[in-house]
Amino acid sequence: MSLKVFVLIVLVLLPFGDALSRDDFPPHFLFGASASAYQVEGAAKEDGRKPSIWDTFAHAGNANRYTGNADIACDQYHKYKEDVQLMAKMGLDAYRFSISWSRLIPDGKGSINPKGLQYYNKLINELISQGIQAHVTLVHWDLPQALEDEYEGWMSRRIVKDFIAYADVCFREFGDRVKYWTTVNEGNVFAIGGYDAGFVPPQRCSPFSTQSLIYNCSGGNSSTEPYLDRQHGFIGFNLLTYGFFPLTNTSEDISAAKRAQDFYLGWFLNPFTFGEYPDIMKKNVGSRLPLFSKSESNLVKDSIDFLGINYYVSFYVKDNPGSLQIKDRDYMVDMGVELQPVFENGTTTDQFPIVPWTLHGLLDSLRNTYGNMPIYIHENGQQTHWNSSLEDWSRVKCLHDYIGSIPNILRNGVNVRGYFVWSFLDVFELLAGYESSFGLHYIDLNDPTLRRQPKLSAVWYSNFLNGRIMDPMITMEVQKKNPSVVLSTFVSNNPILQKVQLKANNSC
Ligand SMILES: *[C@@H]1O[C@H](CO)[C@@H](O)[C@H](O)[C@H]1NC(C)=O
Ligand SMILES: *[C@@H]1O[C@H](CO)[C@@H](O)[C@H](O)[C@H]1NC(C)=O
Ligand SMILES: *[C@@H]1O[C@H](CO)[C@@H](O)[C@H](O)[C@H]1NC(C)=O
Ligand SMILES: *[C@@H]1O[C@H](CO)[C@@H](O)[C@H](O)[C@H]1NC(C)=O
Ligand SMILES: *[C@@H]1O[C@H](CO)[C@@H](O)[C@H](O)[C@H]1NC(C)=O
Repeated sequence: MSLKVFVLIVLVLLPFGDALSRDDFPPHFLFGASASAYQVEGAAKEDGRKPSIWDTFAHAGNANRYTGNADIACDQYHKYKEDVQLMAKMGLDAYRFSISWSRLIPDGKGSINPKGLQYYNKLINELISQGIQAHVTLVHWDLPQALEDEYEGWMSRRIVKDFIAYADVCFREFGDRVKYWTTVNEGNVFAIGGYDAGFVPPQRCSPFSTQSLIYNCSGGNSSTEPYLDRQHGFIGFNLLTYGFFPLTNTSEDISAAKRAQDFYLGWFLNPFTFGEYPDIMKKNVGSRLPLFSKSESNLVKDSIDFLGINYYVSFYVKDNPGSLQIKDRDYMVDMGVELQPVFENGTTTDQFPIVPWTLHGLLDSLRNTYGNMPIYIHENGQQTHWNSSLEDWSRVKCLHDYIGSIPNILRNGVNVRGYFVWSFLDVFELLAGYESSFGLHYIDLNDPTLRRQPKLSAVWYSNFLNGRIMDPMITMEVQKKNPSVVLSTFVSNNPILQKVQLKANNSC
């Protein structure tokens, strides 16, 4: 069926069914879509931009996982107007994007690149003129290469000063129009992936030293509170989150699930909430875990205005006490658990399973454990292959089911403020380059115009946002067409799951 026919049928069916509606959400609840600088901008060597560690990583072969780079990507640098038009037409309230530090300040420190400044001003102004809020991330994996070369980037305390200076430029130049800032994307994966497992830039394998550095660079009151006062903006942090659920109801598995959450999320959220790492981390990591001094603890505590979560999958957790007998331990081993992905219906799939109760469970747990901090779902979405059909039923189902679960979560009193789809366009993905895609819009990379082609999910999201109801058809068709393939493909495409799998296989 063609899109046009489909939309016609849907319009005809409009009055029927238990439809999900924008009216089920509070008026100020935001709906948006996400992307990040390196993944969409292109123009990598244009107008004074210098490389980031992600440029270097990509040009060195993406850790041999896939080929390609984002030198051109979606070319949003030149097509930002067209993209913002598209967002406006869809009815997005907000666009979450990141600033390329090495476009704005090519050497990481020192002079500002006027062309970079001009680009972000134009993008932000275009968004504002269309009534779309700008939600900006400062570092989305792409530290300037110059700082990596000079002092190994995040490994050195010297990053603190340069990060503060960069943030200062952003707050000063854009803070009159940008009210929502996120310092670092996926701080937890950034540390695990970049410095323990080494599958993302800067691709180091020095497991134990990064934990305090993240805080050393983001916790300073000189970098946050003063700007808050000046601009009345909000500054948050972003984590890749998973729901953790005990595999069985034994007390061992119940405490293993709590332990997994403490390691993945409490690692950051305990300091932000209580000023300390979780007790279980102190116990299992021992002297390898740096401690906060009293004054650092006070700085870090209550230093975020909101939490951004990227949410895709959840795990059942089984206790694995044997792993603590291992002598050379890293982060995964210190946790003392086995993780098994939660799959839909007990079946297997190469796409992310769509399991809305896990999002509900995660958000309830965040509220109960860390206080009811404001939360933005910064990323949620479905993975498909790059060239798969424009009729992306599994993505529609994903958006429909997760968005549909939020009204109940809100009724439960969780402080969720917004939902962003990852991603607005098919982008150069961190874990799969141009092989997998999450976009609402497809781009044929062989088409020199890089035309944005709306997938069915874009049509669905747009209809939802514009109050055009299309659920009866979607529900029927999604159930018929949602494809399911084998577990091995899913795992082999996801390094985090690979790692989990590996540990599970190796565990005693
Ligand atoms: C973080 O900062 C504190 C104090 O400013 C310092 O004592 C500590 O060594 C730093 N951590 C690392 C790993 O450099
Ligand atoms: C941080 O704020 C406290 C008071 O709130 C102040 O005593 C301290 O000097 C500040 N630190 C820095 C580095 O500005
Ligand atoms: C654990 O107990 C809860 C509440 O009694 C129940 O709903 C759940 O199904 C049980 N889970 C397992 C895995 O047995
Ligand atoms: C499994 O999925 C099918 C179709 O998506 C649904 O009808 C059924 O209720 C599900 N079963 C369970 C146990 O969730
Ligand atoms: C997508 O299709 C194009 C040809 O249209 C091809 O060059 C490219 O390799 C394909 N990508 C994937 C991931 O299959």
